[in-house]
Amino acid sequence: MGLETSMYNLTPPKHLTPHLLRFIVSELRPVRGARDFYPEDARLRSWLFSHFKEVSRTFAFEEYDAPIVESESIYTRKSGEEITDQIYNFEDKGGRRISLRPEMTPSLARLIIQKAPVLSFPLKWYSIPQCWRYERMTRGRKREHYQWNMDIIGVENTSAEVELLSAIISLFERVGLSKEDVGIRISNRKLLQELLSNMGTPENQFSEICVVLDKMHKLSKEDIFENLSQLGLSEDISSEIFDMLKIQDISTFEQKLGADSEAVSELKELFNLADSCSITEWLSFDASIVRGLSYYTGTVFEAFDKKQDFRAICGGGRYDKLLSSFNATDMPCCGFGFGDVVIMEILQERNLLPSLLQNTDDVVFFMEDSLREVAMKVSTILRKNGRSVDLIMKSKKVKKALKYANKIGASRLIMITPDEWEKESIRIKDMASGEESELLLSKL
Ligand code: HAM
Repeated sequence: MGLETSMYNLTPPKHLTPHLLRFIVSELRPVRGARDFYPEDARLRSWLFSHFKEVSRTFAFEEYDAPIVESESIYTRKSGEEITDQIYNFEDKGGRRISLRPEMTPSLARLIIQKAPVLSFPLKWYSIPQCWRYERMTRGRKREHYQWNMDIIGVENTSAEVELLSAIISLFERVGLSKEDVGIRISNRKLLQELLSNMGTPENQFSEICVVLDKMHKLSKEDIFENLSQLGLSEDISSEIFDMLKIQDISTFEQKLGADSEAVSELKELFNLADSCSITEWLSFDASIVRGLSYYTGTVFEAFDKKQDFRAICGGGRYDKLLSSFNATDMPCCGFGFGDVVIMEILQERNLLPSLLQNTDDVVFFMEDSLREVAMKVSTILRKNGRSVDLIMKSKKVKKALKYANKIGASRLIMITPDEWEKESIRIKDMASGEESELLLSKL
């Protein structure tokens, strides 16, 4: 049984006695699959989020948010997706069916539909919601995670995809990952759609077929064939699909589907544009990427670590028909979700997580109780000057205060001592150089 007391800091606490450990495991731990964020974990989380936000800013995306609870109905889709089976749902006191959000995209659709007449398109929006899914717990998968979402609404051409892919790569570069560490596999659902329509398969079950095919790496070939036959596909067609998903180059599809294939021209355009942004070396075409969410209609992509030790780092694609599933007018949409769990595991494994201290400018301490008021006055002045001040609230010896200032990485130690205060002065120690100086309170 795992002890999920703390998140990104994956080392187990050493000081716990077996008795206390048993107590924590049985009584005090968070709900299975959910995480506590102790200050050191929260610091790392803020560090990651600051990169998410900074990348979003450099691509001129605006932040939005929505409630963590939504009406269950916005997630229920008739396509056999895992995500709908994993919903945390309940009935509220007014008898309404409510769900914790498993993903942000339906909330985003809701926000757009509500205000479509007054919004100026295209929209480029981002958010970092906490999402809840009752998942089987494996490495990289928890029951809650934070998910950086970037979505572009109102752009029908593949510039949107390439902007999103560039943003993901920009994030990788910022946190120290290279194209030798990670990559993004890309395909387009229209390849399969065109193939199926050439074989005379009706279109109405296309999204369900994609959801089945996404399970290809988890289920046996026989089980997939069985699921496809329940959707009305013959064994010949299923075999043809299987062969198609193994094709590794776009030109083979061009021969198969003809020069006027929309799927092929979209893929070629995407890779051409990616070349202009110098990101091609991070990307690869992979027909086996289908994605498990039913609403994708075109480009689909997933980022992965090249050692293949982890689950997908992020995933996304084009979903041009989601709005009409809520009885609204469709609009071209494209986006991705990028979780905090897998990326942190990869960065930890590669020793790329920074050691972050508390970020305090000054530690202020007083040597005698009679100097407490002075210390509080000094702290107030320094804070008004914009400095972050950690006031030690009990009188302390210099040695102890110095040790503490060192431990938290403060840049200065402000000493309120009886000798200096007789002259209305304070003593300041620069922690980096060790130099000390005296300053009149009136000059602070
Ligand atoms: P998704 O593939 O279900 O897509 O999730 C996107 C990412 O969220 C995954 O690649 C992973 O990083 C993270 N993630 C998902 N589930 C878990 C979990 N149980 N534990 C940890 N991390 C997880 C979507 O959610 C789409 N709504 C993304 C999107 C946005 N498509 C268009 N716009």
